[in-house]
Amino acid sequence: MTALTSIRDLTVTYRRDGTAVAALKNIGLDVVTGERLAVIGESGSGKSTLALAIAGLLPAASRIDGRIEWPGLGRAPLGGRDIGFVFQDPSASLDPVMPIGKQIAEVARTHLGLTWPQAYAKAKNLLERVRLPDPDSALLAFPHQLSGGQKQRVAIAAAIAAGPKLLIADEATSALDTIVQAEIVALIRRLVAEDGMTLLFISHDIALAAELAERIAVFRHGQLVELGATARIVDAPAQPYTRALLDAHIGLDAEPLLNRSGLAT
Ligand SMILES: Nc1ncnc2c1ncn2[C@@H]1O[C@H](COP(=O)(O)OP(=O)(O)OP(=O)(O)O)[C@@H](O)[C@H]1O
Ligand SMILES: [Mg+2]
Repeated sequence: MTALTSIRDLTVTYRRDGTAVAALKNIGLDVVTGERLAVIGESGSGKSTLALAIAGLLPAASRIDGRIEWPGLGRAPLGGRDIGFVFQDPSASLDPVMPIGKQIAEVARTHLGLTWPQAYAKAKNLLERVRLPDPDSALLAFPHQLSGGQKQRVAIAAAIAAGPKLLIADEATSALDTIVQAEIVALIRRLVAEDGMTLLFISHDIALAAELAERIAVFRHGQLVELGATARIVDAPAQPYTRALLDAHIGLDAEPLLNRSGLAT
């Protein structure tokens, strides 16, 4: 099992109003090539900071100590090409005044060196793959003409347009209602399998994490408190904090947590 990315002794500190906030403390974690790894924890536990650090997207007003290496790539990652990033709010990553086909084509053109016609053909194929109805007219649609779930499908299409090795989804389903959330989770699972991507799925929801991930990393107050196979984490959490996250899903025991299948994609 090669690590796609290997995080060693990572500490991230934000400077805010002259004070330093340690958002991650001495994190050691491997993201194994081809795995689906979930990172869970309460708000402020450092999940997004970890995602941004891996993607090289931390703001300038942050200090990074430690190492993030890429043995599975054998080189430094190219942002936007090797790493696809899906944010919680698709409106934030989509340009409101550009047709969505052009936005997706632009990613393919920039990173894959395609011509515009090739890039549009790729965009149409991606809209089909994320199951947007009527891809031909969808190419010309603007983000505001789509529902929240459809916008997230487009954001996912753009995130995978350059064929990334790693897909990071940071609370990518949190703003959606339960049914759409399940559909997007199923969509991510299918695309990751089809393209052989490695997935870093970030969520505060342990049930969603258990549904999608093979391993779960539990973060609290900037620290990695527990890491293990999903079934082990759900059946026999070692940490009281993980147990508390599980207990927060009242009425759900380990069985349904692990077996919520049959979702539409
Ligand atoms: N740009 C920033 N400047 C200053 N502090 C920040 C910044 N981003 C995050 N923080 C702080 O770092 C800590 C970790 O934040 P982070 O956003 O990584 O948590 P999170 O687990 O993603 O939370 P959420 O579930 O709410 O998205 C928090 O204390 C937060 O206030
Ligand atoms: Mg976050």
